[in-house]
Amino acid sequence: MTVDVDLLLHSARQLCIVPAQDGGPQRGRALGTLGLIEDGALAVHEGRILEVGVSATLRAKYRARQAIDAAGCAVLPGFVDPHTHLVWAGDRAAEFEMRIAGATYMDIMRAGGGINSTVRAVRAASVDQLVAETLPRLQRMLRAGTTTVEIKTGYGLDSASELKSLDAIFRLQALQPVGIAATFLGAHAVPPEFAGRTDAFVEMLVDTMIPAAAAYAREKGQPLFNDVFCEAGVFDVPQSRRILEAGRAHGLTPKIHADEFAGLGGTRLAVELGAVSADHLVKTLPDDIAALGQGQTVAVALPATPFGLGHHEFTPARAIIAAGGALALATDCNPGTAWCESMQFVLALACRYLRLTPAEALAAATLNAAFAIGRGAYIGSLEAGKQADLLVLDAPDYRHLAYRFGGNLVKHVVKNGQQIV
Ligand code: NIG
Ligand code: FE
Repeated sequence: MTVDVDLLLHSARQLCIVPAQDGGPQRGRALGTLGLIEDGALAVHEGRILEVGVSATLRAKYRARQAIDAAGCAVLPGFVDPHTHLVWAGDRAAEFEMRIAGATYMDIMRAGGGINSTVRAVRAASVDQLVAETLPRLQRMLRAGTTTVEIKTGYGLDSASELKSLDAIFRLQALQPVGIAATFLGAHAVPPEFAGRTDAFVEMLVDTMIPAAAAYAREKGQPLFNDVFCEAGVFDVPQSRRILEAGRAHGLTPKIHADEFAGLGGTRLAVELGAVSADHLVKTLPDDIAALGQGQTVAVALPATPFGLGHHEFTPARAIIAAGGALALATDCNPGTAWCESMQFVLALACRYLRLTPAEALAAATLNAAFAIGRGAYIGSLEAGKQADLLVLDAPDYRHLAYRFGGNLVKHVVKNGQQIV
């Protein structure tokens, strides 16, 4: 008996399932489990994966309205990019030049540039302008294989401008196919009107901005994460705790920017608060690495950021894996440190500078990245029941992804069962 389905992909030279580990992310030594099938096939119906197996079996069993012949190609889950600052206006090309001449990121920030320069541009922009500037970035990400992306606010830093950014994020979801997870990052920097009064800004965040953002997301029926830039000279650990606990009281799951330039203990805080992820993790202290091995918080490495800053120190990924942590990868796409729209380039960096194997990098950029935004049960792997978000590469082996760099190996993108690229 043949079964009618919407889509049958068949004859894949390699099909990478990237299975969940006991229903969770791939932790420790399990990272890099791909569940490779040779001559693989996958049946899709109503946007979901119905069955994965070998071509002969599935071709005999299913009659499909649409077929994709993936002969000679590797097939893998769509990339999940779990950390971006994609909604912004303008650019900071001039700061890039200043950094090459020797200024540091934090020097530029203290002089009123950096994040606050993008804050000026975002405050002056309309929501339509934010949407119009962000849409092409999302379209390029999709062509490069990203099927779900997390997007943070954080360039508004007052209630109206943060809600405007959130509005832009929600509108973008309705305008294009990439799945979007929204994060409130009102605590991205201290805005100029609060200069030297960080505690007063934290009060305002806790009393006004966080409740307003949570109410707005509830009104739109959208889940929302809450993030903070826990860093020397920005928000310290006690301030970060207040901000994340306040968000949690309003139903917002914590995330954190920790250990980018200084190890303050933000990662340990994230684990203690049950944050869904702790991100950056360059200067992470041994106790914090150990905590990642014990807790549920996913460690998100962003190698495009040190690369973008011309730094030579990266996330101690091997130590995090050895401690039993769950490691994910993201672009951190933003106009200051890393205007990188390609998860493929992030994989190339991660293999070289974090010393991940190509299989580990692939699992970190798909399954574990999905868990870093709380969506691991629905996306991130090619397992039956999950959303049919997948990539067909113009390459015979998944390892070509990290091995080759600077181009785009994605031939087809299927999102929610629809072939869109
Ligand atoms: O993740 N570190 C803080 N935030 C961003 C940079 C944002 C910016 O410079 O505009 C980051 O690297
Ligand atoms: Fe970031």
